[in-house]
Amino acid sequence: MLRILVLHGPNLNLLGRREPDQYGTISLSEINQQIKHLAQKENIEVEIFQSNSEGDLVDKIQEADGKFGAIVINPAAYTHTSVAIRDALLAVRIPMVEVHLSNIHGRDEFRRHSLLADIAIGQITGFGVESYLLGILGAVAHLKQPAVLPTSNNDTTRDKKRRRP
Ligand code: DQA
Repeated sequence: MLRILVLHGPNLNLLGRREPDQYGTISLSEINQQIKHLAQKENIEVEIFQSNSEGDLVDKIQEADGKFGAIVINPAAYTHTSVAIRDALLAVRIPMVEVHLSNIHGRDEFRRHSLLADIAIGQITGFGVESYLLGILGAVAHLKQPAVLPTSNNDTTRDKKRRRP
């Protein structure tokens, strides 16, 4: 059975009452219910984890090595700042989909840049809870039929190549 790790970053535990104009009124537990419902329908296994701490998210990614086929992550504010989460994802080389509730490209300038997007299978942004569901379906499609999807955007060796002198 395919196993997918779903990670929620900082402040997403406050969904429902946090900036409803940006993120809607859905709570994190309602999002998690929809994720579990989709997992049942798709016959896949999901583990869901939320943390406000960068180190906890890094630990979870490291522990995922060999246990999960894909990671679907909403890194929240760490999207724009975390070299540590990027490096953890590069280290485990688990295919990853980046998701966001809001459209990060239509908001503040500093939100438009993601430190993870270029090492993701893909990025889904702006569809509210659907971003998670689409992200999971994208990860499943990638795991079932990687050959029919483009590979140029998830070549994690590029990062190392780019840093060579
Ligand atoms: C977010 C977008 C981020 O810029 C922000 O820091 C978040 C949530 C989203 O899901 O839209 O916390 O990742």
